[in-house]
Amino acid sequence: MLKVENLYKSFAAAGSRHGSGTALSVLRGVDLEVAQGEVVSILGPSGAGKSTLLRCINFLERAEKGTILLEDYSVDVRSASKQDILYMRRHTAMVFQSYNLFQNRTALENVMEGLLIRKLPPKEAADKSRYFLDKVGMLEKADEYPARLSGGQQQRVGIARALALNPSIILLDEPTSALDPELAGEVLKVIRDMVQARMTMLIVTHEIDFGREISDRVYLLDDGGMVESNTTDEFFNNPQKERTIRFLERYTQSFTQRHK
Ligand SMILES: Nc1ncnc2c1ncn2[C@@H]1O[C@H](COP(=O)(O)OP(=O)(O)OP(=O)(O)O)[C@@H](O)[C@H]1O
Ligand SMILES: [Mg+2]
Repeated sequence: MLKVENLYKSFAAAGSRHGSGTALSVLRGVDLEVAQGEVVSILGPSGAGKSTLLRCINFLERAEKGTILLEDYSVDVRSASKQDILYMRRHTAMVFQSYNLFQNRTALENVMEGLLIRKLPPKEAADKSRYFLDKVGMLEKADEYPARLSGGQQQRVGIARALALNPSIILLDEPTSALDPELAGEVLKVIRDMVQARMTMLIVTHEIDFGREISDRVYLLDDGGMVESNTTDEFFNNPQKERTIRFLERYTQSFTQRHK
């Protein structure tokens, strides 16, 4: 279970240095919850703060204020210790839009990396990595370097790397948005398999239809604040907020059709 409470994050505005000048407030008191085995989507326009939110949860960015609870481990971000940060990083895994694979390592070595850091014996790390590469249909390419893999294949390696870490939750940031529809399809299939396996997932996606298909619940984030959170069914069929209706009208024509 992941629970985020009252999370605040700002960045120094462009041109302001050394803390002078105004700050850009990106997350303004965000609350969010993902139960064990639940799949939750975050939707929202570009610049809403979706990536920043995921990055703050896994401490790639440091939020200024708020609490993050993972399982029964609670961290007040203001006073987070090294140990707290390590805990959050160890128990969450991120899948990035741009894959973020090491270019000078093979697919297998990319998956193994995190396991070796955790002091798994190399043989065990390799076996486990092969197991997860197989899960995402990439075992045959285990010894290839990322440059020789398609975007969809690289992203599947990225997913295998996340799965191998056995995280409490997987955070996916637009995992298919860099891909052609055809290659996106093979990644979406892998994510569907993860849903079937009841992985706990928090996914930022522009693919509204896909989010709708796989999610138990949906959040709409806009301008650093949660506009609406609801079960997927309610969110799409009975949106409560004007902002949500506008968002859905803009992104899903079928929705507009149904409400004419
Ligand atoms: N490292 C940074 N330094 C300064 N500003 C940043 C930084 N990262 C993000 N921002 C700003 O924070 C805001 C939110 O960015 P974020 O990447 O979280 O949006 P997003 O919802 O993921 O958008 P998109 O859908 O385009 O990916 C934007 O205005 C962005 O310019
Ligand atoms: Mg983003």
